[in-house]
Amino acid sequence: MQSFNHLRDFEVAEISELLELAGRLDEQPEPRALEGKVLSLLFLSPSLRTLASFQAAMTRLGGGAFVISPDMSIHGLESRHGIVMDGNAAEHIREAVPVIASYGDAIGIRAFAERRDLDTDIKETAFSALTDFVGDTPWINMESAMSHPCQSLADWKTLDDFNMPKQGGKFVLSWAYHPMALPLAVPSSTLHMAAMRGMDVTVLRPEGFELPDPIMREAEAVASANGGSVRESDNRAEAMEGAHVIYAKSWSSTQHYGQRNAEDQARLELRDWCVDEGWFEPARDDCRFMHCLPVRRGVVVADEILDGPRSIVIPEARNRMLAQMAVLHRMLSGSAT
Ligand code: CP
Repeated sequence: MQSFNHLRDFEVAEISELLELAGRLDEQPEPRALEGKVLSLLFLSPSLRTLASFQAAMTRLGGGAFVISPDMSIHGLESRHGIVMDGNAAEHIREAVPVIASYGDAIGIRAFAERRDLDTDIKETAFSALTDFVGDTPWINMESAMSHPCQSLADWKTLDDFNMPKQGGKFVLSWAYHPMALPLAVPSSTLHMAAMRGMDVTVLRPEGFELPDPIMREAEAVASANGGSVRESDNRAEAMEGAHVIYAKSWSSTQHYGQRNAEDQARLELRDWCVDEGWFEPARDDCRFMHCLPVRRGVVVADEILDGPRSIVIPEARNRMLAQMAVLHRMLSGSAT
């Protein structure tokens, strides 16, 4: 495996093999599988789970990892093409990325969306500018503008672990209130994952927060090919009818993308998009709650849900480590499984 960038790059059978490997590595640890291997981790955006779980994954497989982020005492990084570097930044990504990549056997990169222009972010222009400089080193997307494949692989495993049906399973991806405009990577990836898993997916969102057309159209085609479906709704009760699982996440208004004041204005009236027990009335009794974390209590979701039996966010987060162990094992062990 030369890169792990998006679930669309894999067949369903390949995802199943990765998930099987993740489960096996949990039950039968291989503490020497990646002995002597090094993973370079470049975090240009903040993290807790991704930062910790990649280091834990490498350690559990017998390898090592190092982290580089702007919070450390590194030189200021410039990314603009053709710029005369007479300002604060002392180093360009054209040198920094290949140097960091050259110290490891694989590199993980996190760089959130710039959120200035939706088309630019959908095209992953900024992220591609980084991965273009890794050379021959295998690389992993640790969250870009539109993709968070490690989260999606872990989420797929979590759905399997909790025996959620594939075809016929009702998956609600719901927008939730948040005081800040957040990226589209998780909702886009989550939608693709649930569609690829063959579930019946409803994207529940207020007007103005529709997911981008290309993301929706791709998910519809993927769902249809795998025995599922995709629809959108702004009607909470209708969307939650018979749901097996609700996956909550806040994301930016696509109607006001990159326009901070208009976006803030659009969110003002939407504070009641905080998931509480009332949301589950039309759902199945055993409907579960998922979220990628970090999550704002009392804003995105009520404590009663996070602390109650519906929530599976902790096993979901632990699955990040297991899913990434499978990816790293496949990428670096030199064996097929
Ligand atoms: N879900 C997730 O990626 O968490 P972090 O931002 O803490 O890495």
